Amino acid sequence: GLKKKEVNVLCLGLDNSGKTTIINQLKPPNHSNHLGPLSEEWKHVSQTQAQEIVPTIGFNIEKFKSSSLSFTVFDMSGQSRYRNLWEHYYKESHAIIFVIDSSDKLRMVVAKEELDTLLNHEDIRSKRIPVLFFANKIDLQDAMSSVKVSQMLCLENIKDKPWHICASNAIKGEGLQEGLDWLQDQIA
Ligand code: GTP
Ligand code: MG
Repeated sequence: GLKKKEVNVLCLGLDNSGKTTIINQLKPPNHSNHLGPLSEEWKHVSQTQAQEIVPTIGFNIEKFKSSSLSFTVFDMSGQSRYRNLWEHYYKESHAIIFVIDSSDKLRMVVAKEELDTLLNHEDIRSKRIPVLFFANKIDLQDAMSSVKVSQMLCLENIKDKPWHICASNAIKGEGLQEGLDWLQDQIA
């Protein structure tokens, strides 16, 4: 039969921005959700557990399939001590998801520095790969709008790559589909 196109997606951004939470939302539902009707109380417990995500050490690899594509997602740790791992995966990546904590005003300049370093890297600079930004945690009281995040990161300066920014609430899964639909269109 037809083989699905293999796509490597690199998920980057500072620690605590919500990368792993986003990727977990993309996974097919846990089979325990299909065991039959759960009482409301148990539903609540299983949802809460699904949200208990620990900081990533190094990176994790997750695989997903859509109707036409087979995705391998590299969920990198955003902690400063692991950020030097990112560049090892630039060459083989076909798309980048860059996650920002919209409420973390103090570290927006750090996020911009990391983004600029990424975009200026020799393995990325010359590639026309799509970059999807999630302005995540928009549910938080002091979150900035995606327009404001986009301004702070100077995204309008990205001229040589297709890019798109979506506001998201990864805990509820809001905004994720819109972003992924865009990414799929770019790759397909
Ligand atoms: P590292 O693995 O350390 O790089 O972090 P990460 O980017 O993978 O962040 P992670 O997914 O571990 O999320 C960090 C924390 O933010 C967790 O407590 C999440 O529950 C929380 N979080 C993630 N997305 C959202 C969101 O949209 N809104 C809110 N309020 N909290 C979120
Ligand atoms: Mg993580």
